[in-house]
Amino acid sequence: MTTELLDALTSPETAIARAAELLRAGEVVGFPTETVYGLGACACNELAVRKIYAAKGRPQDNPLIVHIASVKEVSRVARDIPDEFYRLAEAFFPGALTVILHRNLEVPAVVSAGLDTIAVRMPAHEIALEIIAAVGEPLVAPSANRSGKPSPTTAQHVIDDLNGRIAAVVDGGNCTIGIESTIVNILGDMPIILRPGLVTKEDIENVIGTSVSVHSGNEIIRPIAPGMKYRHYAPRATVKLMASWAEIVDTIQRNPRQKRMILSPEKAPYSSIHQVYPLNSTTIYSEFRRADAENFQEILILCTDTVLNNVALMNRITKAASGT
Ligand code: TXA
Ligand code: MG
Repeated sequence: MTTELLDALTSPETAIARAAELLRAGEVVGFPTETVYGLGACACNELAVRKIYAAKGRPQDNPLIVHIASVKEVSRVARDIPDEFYRLAEAFFPGALTVILHRNLEVPAVVSAGLDTIAVRMPAHEIALEIIAAVGEPLVAPSANRSGKPSPTTAQHVIDDLNGRIAAVVDGGNCTIGIESTIVNILGDMPIILRPGLVTKEDIENVIGTSVSVHSGNEIIRPIAPGMKYRHYAPRATVKLMASWAEIVDTIQRNPRQKRMILSPEKAPYSSIHQVYPLNSTTIYSEFRRADAENFQEILILCTDTVLNNVALMNRITKAASGT
């Protein structure tokens, strides 16, 4: 299969119309969202949904997120919707928040890997919203990477991973957020964040008015989000968390021969360190891809207070460091 590159930066209408045509025909198409690129298929077309698992090499028991273009579309994919959903939607939709609801049983079970719940989000990206609206029904869209690779933040990343395996990818430029949406489950006694993202625990607590817990990743034997049991992406290089520039200098001096990448949110205070790569949520996944492509052996990440206080970014960094 030849993967079509649809340029939505120069001709958005043509790109959106072609993407919608392919999706309606049961094909799988990559498209931009504000978080990361998604790999879309019609949620109600079971065969199309299966193509997503095949293209990504995704385990069959890892459920997908359904993307909607308006809040009222939620009733097409979910049932018995709690009031909290509408309060969260009012505050954060469209945006980087995914909410776990009861699945409308008309939606094929394969979407949720057999669970009776369903993950729903409305992306804050004009192109994504227009594609969903043009198709006229909700789209499932996991991140558009091969399983085991970081989420893509450019159309080129999608091509690098999936060229020849999907019908098309819509190029809408760089994703502005760069890491995946916050996932919150509001079906239990206390809402629980399953994956941290730009929308924080405090943001959600302020809207819902009750405390929200955060899944810590360790104490759960049976995973609540099935994806949690899979080994997380980690670059081939050894990832080390650094507390200061002094520690970085010390690490370099102990073993000067390593091919090393330094990731930092700020410039190095020493002229001896000439190359520092940027560290923030927008760049982290593309820098990990660069580290693999350029065969770095070690990645030193400077964890300043700004980085440490960014729960979502630290979550991706610690996962990359431990591979869990
Ligand atoms: O920002 C995002 O959320 C991106 C863009 C494309 O929208 N999508 C994304 O999808 O990150 P994916 O498939 O890479 O991650 C979805 C996560 C998985 O960890 C999966 O296990 C979890 O959501 N998930 C999906 N449905 C679920 C459900 N019913 N219950 C619990 N977790 C669920
Ligand atoms: Mg993913």
